Parts: sequence; structure tokens; C-alpha cells
Amino acid sequence: MFDRLPELPADSLLGLISMFRDDTNPKKVDLGVGVYRDEAGHTAIMKAVQKAQQMHLDQEDSKTYIGPVGVPGFVEGIKGLVLGNDSATIKDNRIAAIQTPGGCGALRVGSEFLKRLNSDFTVWVSDPTWANHIPLIRSAGLTIKTYPYFDTSTGAVNFDAMDEQLAKLGPNDVVLLHGCCHNPTGADLSFDHWKTITERALETGFIPYVDIAYQGLGDGLEEDVAGVRYLSERVPEMVIATSCSKNFGLYRERTGCLLIQTESAQTAKAIQTQIQDVARANYSMSPAYGGFLVDIVLHNEALNREWKEELDAMATRVKSLRHGLLEQIKAQGVSQNFDFITEQKGMFSYLGISKEQVTQLRNDFSIYMADSSRINVAGLNTQCLEYVAQALKKVCG
Ligand SMILES: Cc1ncc(COP(=O)(O)O)c(C=O)c1O
Repeated sequence: MFDRLPELPADSLLGLISMFRDDTNPKKVDLGVGVYRDEAGHTAIMKAVQKAQQMHLDQEDSKTYIGPVGVPGFVEGIKGLVLGNDSATIKDNRIAAIQTPGGCGALRVGSEFLKRLNSDFTVWVSDPTWANHIPLIRSAGLTIKTYPYFDTSTGAVNFDAMDEQLAKLGPNDVVLLHGCCHNPTGADLSFDHWKTITERALETGFIPYVDIAYQGLGDGLEEDVAGVRYLSERVPEMVIATSCSKNFGLYRERTGCLLIQTESAQTAKAIQTQIQDVARANYSMSPAYGGFLVDIVLHNEALNREWKEELDAMATRVKSLRHGLLEQIKAQGVSQNFDFITEQKGMFSYLGISKEQVTQLRNDFSIYMADSSRINVAGLNTQCLEYVAQALKKVCG
């Protein structure tokens, strides 16, 4: 009977990884996979996290179950990191929260929770959005539609078109927003956009659903969540899915957190049991390890300082690569306008070139990126900027 199901086509990004691995060109550049890389192309363990591992090793004396919430200090720490330690919503106990297996786990549990709440919800995602949003939300049984977001002609957000769509929504709608560092485009909402979105949510009654996977990799830990905090301070209810994969470099430890903001402490208590129940039906409880490390890093003064400095250095490096690439593109006299590269935030940029041009960059220059022309800016290094710009000149003119 098992032969009834066909083999599925390989994931295109995974295909890119194996093509890159087999490419013998010493000049090859991997801009495909969305992980942070240092100048040497390595995804290193952050030093503060390394120290936290040692501290955890020295103090852990049991591997018994962690419990449905996950590591309590982690969950409390993430609430403060995202919403601010002075958040009235936190102080009023209006947040239900659990540790999850990565940001994906948070999105999946968040989506199943929404489905329980109202099976008629439509979840609106940006056009385009991170490819994995679609299966994560759809497999929870929710309907998905897209709102206009990215303007390919400017490389920025087409907010008028987005707002026009949001204004038409109602209480049966959920709007998925990228908290910062939009994946895949790098085009972020401005603070004024967040204000308008807040007004729309209050007017129409749609539920904001924020996915924040890159806090600290844009303009800074606080700056990156200014819009999310503004929204949270004003709307009664919202859902937030967070990930520690990028900003703590904990990719394989599957460390994330789901926060559900409710109207009252009493509702939060009920919702806490609901999200725990969703998790129980899926995987029982989250792996604890990454949560222990983040708990230590967030609460140990010295490690916290060190982590913030490391994260800042990562964000600064990505910004300087953006500037460096644009300078080289200009120096090569590429006719297409790529000025948006320095305006976009976080690890990703949409180059806005055709699939044929992407293929030519791969075949003729061993420069690998997603077919959509999304690049992982952190995959660049100062040595390859000129080479990449020269290749763009040859391919784009
Ligand atoms: C937009 C976005 N959301 C969520 C995630 C979740 O990541 P993870 O499940 O690895 O924590 C990612 C990871 O690439 C992402 O890009």
C-alpha cells in the first residue's frame, strides 16, 4: 500500500546545496541557504552561547521531562526581549506562551491554535513570503490568501496596495506580518506603516500574527521590534511566533517561542492550556536544551552583554556587505539600479533579476542563489564582492 504515494521533487534550496557542494570552481559563492555566515563562510557558535553551554553542562543534573511550558526562564526572557521588559501586557499577565521546536514549531502550534479558535479564519500572507509559511499554515487546515507587499520596481514595500487590502478585512481574517528583516525580500515595514496596520487591525478586527525570526539582525534588538511593540500595546489580541535560530545561532537546537496576547489574564490562563494541548497532540513538549542556553544568555549580565555585542557585529557585517556590494556594482557600471540593496534590512535581498539570469550566474560564474533571485547577503564576503559585481555586469549588462 505504501507505494501509493509518489516520491516528491527535491526541495529547490536543498538541490542548490548539493550543486554548490559538487562545484569545483574555487571562486564559487553560496548565496542560497538562509544561515548567517562569517567572513570565512562559517556558521560559528556564538561565543556567549558557547559559554552558556559550558555553564549548563556544569549545572544540569537531570534529563527528566521539562514540562509543557518549556524552560520557564526562557519563555519569560523571550517575552521581555520581544515586547520589552516594561510591557504592560506582560505585567498584566495577558500573555500565554510556550517554548516550541524552533520558529517553525511556533508557527505550526500558533496556526493550529487559530484553527481551533475559528475554523473559518483566512490567513493573509505577504506576496511574496517565506516559502515555509504556506505548508506550516495550510497543514493546520487554514485557508491562505496573499496581500500585495513587494514592489519589484522599487525594491521596497508597496504599502498603499497592502493597506488597501487590509482595509477590506474583518474578524474572520488573520494577517501574518514579518516583525523585521522580511524573508525573502529584505523590504521592511516602516514605523509609520506599523502605525497604520495597528489602526486597520483596530478598525476591522483582523488578528495580527507576527513572525519574528531575525530580531537584532536589522537595525538593532530594540529598533527591530519597535513596530511590533507599538502594535502589541494597542491591539487586544495577537499571536507572535519567535525563533532563536538566527539571533542566537541555535538553528539545529530547534528553539522558538509562541506568544499569544489576550484581552485579560483570565483568558490568557485558558489559552495557556489550549496551546499546551495543541503541542501535546503534536510532539508533547519542546526540546529543552536551546531554551536553557538562551535563558542563561538573557539572564547572565556578562553573557548578555557579550551576546548583544556579537549580534551587533553580525548585523553590522551584513550592512557593510550591502554597501560593499552596491559600491562594486556601481564601479562595474551595471546598468540596472540596485540602490535598494542598502535600504533593505537583514540577511536577505531580492535582486529582482530573471530566473534565466539566476541560472546564468550559477552556470557561468558558480554564484548560487534561489530561483526567485533572493540572496543571503551574509553568504558574501569582502573577497568576493568584486567577482559577484563583475558577474552581474556580464549577466545584466
Ligand atoms: C521568516 C522566518 N520565520 C521563521 C523561521 C523559523 O526558523 P526555525 O524554525 O529554524 O527557528 C525562519 C527561518 O528561516 C524564517 O525565515
